[in-house]
Amino acid sequence: MSASPEQLLALVRRSLDTGTGLAAECYREPAFFALERERVLRPGWHAVARWDALPEAGEHMPVDLLGEPILVVRGEDGTLRAFSNVCPHRGHIVAGDRGRAKTLVCPYHRWAFGLDGALRAAPLMDETPGFDRARCGLTKLRTALWQGFLLVCLDDATPDVLPSLAPLDERLADAGLAELVEIGTLEFDSAWNWKVMVDNFMESYHHLGIHVDSLQKTHPAKGTYGVEGDGPFAILENPGVEEGDHLLVAQVFPTLLFSIVEGIRFGVWYEMQIEGPDRFRLVIHALAPPELARAEGAPAALMGQVEKIHHEDIAACEGVQRGLASRIWRPGPLSVKELCLARFHRHLAQRLGA
Ligand code: FES
Ligand SMILES: [Fe+2]
Repeated sequence: MSASPEQLLALVRRSLDTGTGLAAECYREPAFFALERERVLRPGWHAVARWDALPEAGEHMPVDLLGEPILVVRGEDGTLRAFSNVCPHRGHIVAGDRGRAKTLVCPYHRWAFGLDGALRAAPLMDETPGFDRARCGLTKLRTALWQGFLLVCLDDATPDVLPSLAPLDERLADAGLAELVEIGTLEFDSAWNWKVMVDNFMESYHHLGIHVDSLQKTHPAKGTYGVEGDGPFAILENPGVEEGDHLLVAQVFPTLLFSIVEGIRFGVWYEMQIEGPDRFRLVIHALAPPELARAEGAPAALMGQVEKIHHEDIAACEGVQRGLASRIWRPGPLSVKELCLARFHRHLAQRLGA
């Protein structure tokens, strides 16, 4: 029998009270996912693109954000905007694919929208009494450009995100994250809960296990520590063995995950396109300074490393997801190395009203 929302929220409270990880139900139950989609995910700010995506005016790409079809468009003025990708006429998807165009034309009845979303043409509609073109543009979504990420929020009631991230900006002041360009992407269908990915990303404790032959050599588990901060984010520091290896790992709640090696300024952004309680599409974006992006062989070598590490993490996340199917298991204590997980779980509890 599945648990009621009250029982699920009580499980979250209990894990915070006892210093353990979250109960299996929080990663597995469709009812928990429904709660978290409404109270945590839909009201959240989510990264959908980097600043250098879609460089030419008129370039656009559809993105599925929590089941909401959205369209990211580079305007004539160079601004990156996000719109609902659902046609204001009868609800067809406006742009099904990436492309470049002067106007965005819905294929169903050929209503055409400017790159600013305004309705430019609607065949035969002038014959319709009372038709008000000005009210029939694409719905513009709230966006913010933060450290090179285009953030989108689907909820008008959510406060602006930038002020709350000021303390994280301070930590990132010398990292140069905002200028990094995308040098490649890797995509994976991931058959586990999105929070399993977050928990994995936000601790380096597992370097001594799953990554014993790779990251443990450069960024051992022992030296890592989470940082308490004031805002909707978590920061994990990993000094690394060599000078310049310092790794900064961060989560902007709920879904933005990124890390940066501060010496070479090489970063990754783990974009989770969440599809359900037990699956998401992961797009790993590799980020680097323009000069590194141009250095012969460097991007390919870096992408190779990212892929190798992620294959190790796939094994970890799949192993956890399998374990979460157990009805015997109860969550164990989080270590001091897992401070960021506790912080994230507190955020969830607060947003869920647990
Ligand atoms: S639904 Fe888009 S033009 Fe009719
Ligand atoms: Fe890992």
